[in-house]
Amino acid sequence: MKSVHSIAELTSSLRTPPRVFVPTMGALHEGHGELIRVARTIAGAEGQVIVSIFVNPLQFGPTEDFNKYPRTQDDDKKLAAQYGADLVWFPEAAELLSPEMTKLESPSFGDTLEGEQRPGHFTGVLTIVNRLFEIVSPSHAIFGVKDLQQLILIREMSAARFPNLEVVPVETVRTDSGLAMSSRNKYLSEPEIKLASQINKALNVAALQPDPVSSFYEKLSAAGITADQIDYVEIVPMPLSCIDLGNRRLVVAVRVGSTRLLDNIALN
Ligand code: PAF
Repeated sequence: MKSVHSIAELTSSLRTPPRVFVPTMGALHEGHGELIRVARTIAGAEGQVIVSIFVNPLQFGPTEDFNKYPRTQDDDKKLAAQYGADLVWFPEAAELLSPEMTKLESPSFGDTLEGEQRPGHFTGVLTIVNRLFEIVSPSHAIFGVKDLQQLILIREMSAARFPNLEVVPVETVRTDSGLAMSSRNKYLSEPEIKLASQINKALNVAALQPDPVSSFYEKLSAAGITADQIDYVEIVPMPLSCIDLGNRRLVVAVRVGSTRLLDNIALN
């Protein structure tokens, strides 16, 4: 597996499609492992799997964890190779964030849920993903269902701007206790991991109830997570572009200690 930094090095290493792209912010874990394995399956032996690792400053608010976000470049290189990547790209901020790059605004759905809690977040995500897509020109791009709102917005952006690119969703990978894998899980202490694992348990129970939102609050309260730790619990109808993920999903953001955790589940 090769690793590159500059855009020139990257573009000269790109091969003919299928070119399957996995954009990440690094601190790779089994969740990314699954994204890269799916990418490998789509690419086959002849195609190319490209992973980018860039902690994107545009998607962090001024009081958020940009500086402390885990950066584990050497481990990431080894893991990306183990998971099946052909090429890892570590873009350089000065080159990637050029003043001429296209700045995208997120549609109004991007101002709800995560976007309401983190103003400007999806503008930053869409701007960087658009820039990465323009440079890599992938045939497929892989994103996790855990960040559901991001996935929906990227699919919509991609359908409008990159009609030949297929955005492939990959189901959330969980620890044995049900906690959704996330790079931010590194911030959690052992007791917090136990508490955080209740989120998925509550989602599974709530999804079967007539009022999933109230049921989710009740289950978490019984587990010791209070309503003020819950940033949102909402039923989100899936747009046509994401109908493969079900008709509706229960989408939540919960704070455990100082860590915000996202998760969601399909509703029947
Ligand atoms: O999901 C992520 O890791 C990031 O939001 C992404 C898509 C790589 C854009 O920076």
